[in-house]
Amino acid sequence: MKLEFSNRIAAMQPSAIREILKATADPNIIPFAAGNPAPEAFPAEAIAKFSAEILETNPIGALQYSLSEGYPLLRETLKVYMKEHFNIGREFDDINIMSGAQQVMDYTAKVLLNEGDTVICENPTFIGTLNTFRSYALNLVGLPMEDDGIRPEDLEAAILANPNTKLIYLIPTFQNPSGRTMSLAKRKAVYEIAVKHNILILEDNPYGELRFEGETLPTIKSLDEKGVVIYAGSFSKVVSPGMRVGFAVAHKDILSKMTIAKQCNDVHTNISAQMVIHKLLTEFDFPAHLERLRGIYRRKCNLMLNALDEKMPTVKHTLPSGGLFVWCDLPEGIDIHEFTQEVLAAGVAIVPGNNFFVDSNMPTQSVRLNYSTPTDEQLVKGVDILAKILNK
Ligand SMILES: Cc1ncc(COP(=O)(O)O)c(C=O)c1O
Repeated sequence: MKLEFSNRIAAMQPSAIREILKATADPNIIPFAAGNPAPEAFPAEAIAKFSAEILETNPIGALQYSLSEGYPLLRETLKVYMKEHFNIGREFDDINIMSGAQQVMDYTAKVLLNEGDTVICENPTFIGTLNTFRSYALNLVGLPMEDDGIRPEDLEAAILANPNTKLIYLIPTFQNPSGRTMSLAKRKAVYEIAVKHNILILEDNPYGELRFEGETLPTIKSLDEKGVVIYAGSFSKVVSPGMRVGFAVAHKDILSKMTIAKQCNDVHTNISAQMVIHKLLTEFDFPAHLERLRGIYRRKCNLMLNALDEKMPTVKHTLPSGGLFVWCDLPEGIDIHEFTQEVLAAGVAIVPGNNFFVDSNMPTQSVRLNYSTPTDEQLVKGVDILAKILNK
């Protein structure tokens, strides 16, 4: 049969990262391409214990259909947690559990945006969200980044140039792919601009708890007294991406529309996974767990940065103070696509930076390196291989 696909999906390409990740299924390939938590970061024992307990004490609760808004005990616990840790959650806000933060991006587009509406984002930004927005045929406008985030004046100019701007998508903390963090002054300025122009912000913060250096900065959502910020949170990077538990904090009116979207989609987030997350937050030393993760990523990040500085001194790189990624600029004259292929053949997987740009044909010298997935030995050996090919 000749298949004809919808306009929505016909023009979309499989994610380049997924294709590169296929190559990394080979255990001999050093994985600088992924965005996975370190294998040693999973609280696997506690998850096993809580899962067994839940199935023993409340099997039907864990296996039955559940509520689209999320497991009530987890929502209540998260409300308190987000208020205490992030000062997030005003009278007008609520929290709904989602199947990963990715679903928050999808529902934001689905319930608030129409085809052709403009979304302004950082350039580069998270490829998963770019593809979600592309699937809704939105007009994407990417703003260049400085080390402390986009320039507020660029944001204002882009809004004026695109009067149909409906959303500003930002990853202000330990950005994927760049590892950069937006300064407090810029967070405030961006928020004020959004309020002034009556435009929503989608703040995506899956790495916020993984700061291993410096002072914590307030999230943009914590500044939100007007209900203009939708906050996407996730347990993927701090517990397990496979469990698919994320959440949205947003104005109640937005969340009630997202609930309708969820009822048309996956009905509710995996209930037994939500119950396990609830127990991790209430019956497990979650702060100590996070501290352990910060220690792992601090060490791995330093290993990679030291190796880069020692072996590849001509390569400029960002200085992440948390999260999982370093963004490197290779010297002019190096073709990043050839470089990616050559290093893959030599046993290291990396992602060429163009994949993270709104226009993936935009010329760039950048590549994204991930330091959470490789072992310590692989971190050093992988940079060594990159350096040998670069210096060839
Ligand atoms: C910036 C960003 N947002 C969202 C996600 C998706 O997270 P989740 O697994 O919660 O859907 C990722 C995953 O890599 C990410 O890097």
